[in-house]
Amino acid sequence: MAAADSGGASADHRAFVGGATGYTGQAVVERLRALGVETVAHVRPDSRDLAGWRARFEGMGAQVDTTPWDEDAMVARLAELRPTLVFALLGTTQRRMRRDKASGADSSYAKVDLGMTLMLLRGAEATSPAPRFVYLSALGVKPSAPGTYYHARWEVEQALRASSVPWTIARPSFITGSDRGERRPLEQGGAVVAAGVLGLAGALGARRFRDRWGPIDAATLAEGLVGAALDPAAEGAVLTSDALRGAR
Ligand SMILES: NC(=O)c1ccc[n+]([C@@H]2O[C@H](COP(=O)([O-])OP(=O)(O)OC[C@H]3O[C@@H](n4cnc5c(N)ncnc54)[C@H](OP(=O)(O)O)[C@@H]3O)[C@@H](O)[C@H]2O)c1
Repeated sequence: MAAADSGGASADHRAFVGGATGYTGQAVVERLRALGVETVAHVRPDSRDLAGWRARFEGMGAQVDTTPWDEDAMVARLAELRPTLVFALLGTTQRRMRRDKASGADSSYAKVDLGMTLMLLRGAEATSPAPRFVYLSALGVKPSAPGTYYHARWEVEQALRASSVPWTIARPSFITGSDRGERRPLEQGGAVVAAGVLGLAGALGARRFRDRWGPIDAATLAEGLVGAALDPAAEGAVLTSDALRGAR
């Protein structure tokens, strides 16, 4: 799966990026624009720094869309924009949940990771022709995986499989790199331990194992996600980090 093979067709695409302001989302917008793909970066209208995001994304040559996270509004907007690629890259964190709960807002995995991603899926289903839907899930997702985080991801994956849109699911392990602005002790600590153990595995020849389980930075992941999005062979594929590294 090589993005370069489909690079000539990049100009025929229009991408809508949900979660564009995230660590992965920013890198995906950047990668799409580097390939000359017309790109719409979604920023929530109540963003703390809407002007800053607008300047950043418009500086990359992307358009900014501020449709509210309301199902009818999102479906209507996607049907109007008619993207050929939809990236669903959003997700909440325990820290965000605690912060929002203090102000009475619900930002649970059920509301954000499941609910908002399903809004994008409903919008993709209302779009003709149907766009490729690229969903950022997580390694370890399965029906028996415990906890609301995994449950939300499994529900989205099942909704995709039951939907009428062509999809690609990405299941990376830790997404982090030295360019990650936000401090995330759990993920960064886990990634350091994983990188150490897996570095040893790599030295012993278990490179595929290391590539699958080791941390992946946003730029590498973005290249893999966009490469897969543009690759007809990645339709219906569930890609772990090793395959995403190969899809660049
Ligand atoms: N980090 C990891 O190690 C890892 C591993 C595997 C899978 N994943 C999954 O991959 C996805 C992206 O990860 P990431 O690290 O790039 O995420 P991130 O940097 O935390 O970005 C999250 C995105 O979701 C949006 N979002 C969060 N809460 C929201 C809310 N209440 N309403 C509207 N938008 C909201 C954010 O928008 P604002 O900027 O406006 O808040 C941002 O665009 C997540 O679903 C994550 O669970 C992460």
